[in-house]
Amino acid sequence: MAEPFLIGDAMTGGYGGADILHGCTIAVEPGEIAVIVGPNGAGKSTAMKAVFGMLKLRGGAVRLKGEDITTLTPQARVAKGMAFVPQTSNIFTSMTVEENLEMGAFLRRDDIRGTMEQVYGLFPILKEKRLQPAGELSGGQRQQVAVGRALMTQPSVLMLDEPTAGVSPIVMDELFDRIIEVARSGISILMVEQNARQALEIADKGYVLVQGANRFTGTGQALLADPDVRKSFLGG
Ligand SMILES: Nc1ncnc2c1ncn2[C@@H]1O[C@H](COP(=O)(O)OP(=O)(O)O)[C@@H](O)[C@H]1O
Ligand SMILES: [Mg+2]
Repeated sequence: MAEPFLIGDAMTGGYGGADILHGCTIAVEPGEIAVIVGPNGAGKSTAMKAVFGMLKLRGGAVRLKGEDITTLTPQARVAKGMAFVPQTSNIFTSMTVEENLEMGAFLRRDDIRGTMEQVYGLFPILKEKRLQPAGELSGGQRQQVAVGRALMTQPSVLMLDEPTAGVSPIVMDELFDRIIEVARSGISILMVEQNARQALEIADKGYVLVQGANRFTGTGQALLADPDVRKSFLGG
């Protein structure tokens, strides 16, 4: 099989004590949406951190376009086209919306205005509120700021840890539509989601993680149709 665009391959490691990840494999192709689901504490966020270089692996590797990036820092991975929106503290609340977007582009030395207009095109409300402190925005709008900030680096891979946490179903649908739009532009999406059913609906590929290991892997549709996955992870 051809080498995936981005792969965390047989990742094993943790936070210094016992391993949290046990040979966990996650991969995504250009323009594809890959979704990680699983119970609380399964290691979903840990797997994302490992792929982004925030966790030292004891086994396995991370490769981007075939290049082994296992030992690269997160900053070096950003320079290679990866962007990560963590689960919490993903915006600067005291800075304006626009300042948050500018911060996202801090590594760039070229003109960022075109990208900023693209972000505003994707999330028009952010343009309206661009001079407001991001902390004054609603939960869904803050998530838009976080995603927008990540897009300011012009990534080829966008990693999102629970982008719809704490938002209403309508706001979730809206955000998923925008994420689909981003994927259609050719960017790979690697996303952790608590709203498993809805996320698998838009997933090209889904991973069910349990106790730091792959339990089920398949297309979103295949996982949604799998009786075992439904019974154990999707509430029947
Ligand atoms: N910074 C940390 N230090 C030590 N243990 C952690 C840390 N973050 C998470 N863990 C532990 O790792 C396990 C997996 O956590 P996490 O990856 O956050 O799960 P999930 O995102 O699937 O809910 C849990 O047992 C959690 O307590
Ligand atoms: Mg998590």
